[in-house]
Amino acid sequence: MRTQVGIIGAGPAGLLLSRLLTLQGIDNVVLENRSREYVEARIRAGILEQHTVDTLTEVGLGDRLHREGLEHHGIYLQHPGTRHKLDFPELCGRTVWVYGQTEVTKDLIKAQLDGGPPLLFEVSDVIPEDVDSDSPRIRFTDADGNPQVLECDAVAGTDGFHGPSRAVVQQGPTGRTWERTYPYAWLGILADAAPATDELIYAWHPEGFALYSMRSPKVSRLYLQVDPSEKIEDWSDDRIWDNLATRFALDGWELTTGTVTEKSILPMRSFVSAPMRRGRLFLAGDAGHIVPPTGAKGLNLAVADVTLLAQALVRLLQEKQNDLVDSYSDRALARVWRCTHFSWFMTSMLHRSGDDFDAEMQLSQLRRVCSSEAAARELAENYTGLPIE
Ligand code: FAD
Ligand code: DHB
Repeated sequence: MRTQVGIIGAGPAGLLLSRLLTLQGIDNVVLENRSREYVEARIRAGILEQHTVDTLTEVGLGDRLHREGLEHHGIYLQHPGTRHKLDFPELCGRTVWVYGQTEVTKDLIKAQLDGGPPLLFEVSDVIPEDVDSDSPRIRFTDADGNPQVLECDAVAGTDGFHGPSRAVVQQGPTGRTWERTYPYAWLGILADAAPATDELIYAWHPEGFALYSMRSPKVSRLYLQVDPSEKIEDWSDDRIWDNLATRFALDGWELTTGTVTEKSILPMRSFVSAPMRRGRLFLAGDAGHIVPPTGAKGLNLAVADVTLLAQALVRLLQEKQNDLVDSYSDRALARVWRCTHFSWFMTSMLHRSGDDFDAEMQLSQLRRVCSSEAAARELAENYTGLPIE
């Protein structure tokens, strides 16, 4: 098999890259080790920045997003006794959208299977080879168990945090990583409960952080800070609702409860791998970096990476110019570090460490963001997404 760009991984990064390249006339093949059902059911992020919405719209995937997605004009920041709204259009002229990553993925897969380039599910033993040459290849075993070789001009490693691509880049001469693990985890639930808020609520509380998000006018998505050693079996639905009610408590406001349809515990870490390129292998999305979810950046960063990568690959393969592939890693990493800082800032400001000095620092920072237009604007600009340079 031969193609121009071999793409490893059918998460949002790989699928969107495939779409961007296809629209520019570049052949590509996407290889995914899970089944379509598994990929479409994975519940993850929910907030799309303005540039993500614009990109999805430009590639013809904005219809359902605009019909079923919910445009949000701000967030609430809460600490006991106070719930303060940051008004994004007023502060920075942008908005964000609530539209689940599951829905983005379903839209991308549907478009791809409807006349798009090949998307092979349930492949195994995927490994990029000869990436320092101009004709790299991907070896893999197809869903029927047959060994295959995909010859390419370039390979995109969009295989998430646990895929094989990052290790190949790291084995290059300048590979380096940075990591921070946080002593916090999130217990996330999806519930058939009408959201009791118009905007997301990020709540600081002495017992730990809580986040009120949603997926539709009938479905809420809620998170609780828990210790990373906690087991989901120890959290009954009643215990979860009680903790949520305590942490979001505000005079005159009431939490709406409902049937919990999904619950899980997510670890939190920051991780950056540089460079994001070795020869003709390019990393994008979670394959190159992880952020803690508090800034809602993971999915949006994946979209920003592949926007840059698609431009660079089109220039390389159609105009035979190396300039954009040569600058890809530095340009992508500049945004990665900005989002890494913002995600660390939001995580540090909102999670209870157990230390009372930390708590006073956090409350002081929260009061600052809620009272200074400059501090609020800084948060709003980062949250809604800086323009892609
Ligand atoms: P992924 O979505 O991970 O896609 C990578 C794809 O590669 C997957 O389909 C995987 O199956 C495939 N793959 C892996 N190995 C191979 C292989 N060997 N061969 C072929 N294919 C392979 N972000 C937020 O902003 N808010 C959240 O609440 C949030 N929750 C999250 C919860 C979880 C459990 C996780 C893991 C992430 C969460 N994120 C969240 C982050 C966000 O979902 C990711 O940043 C986003 O999915 C990145 O997209 P991606 O395409 O780069 O990677
Ligand atoms: C959601 C997840 C986040 O990490 C976040 O900061 C906001 C919303 C969500 O899943 O809806």
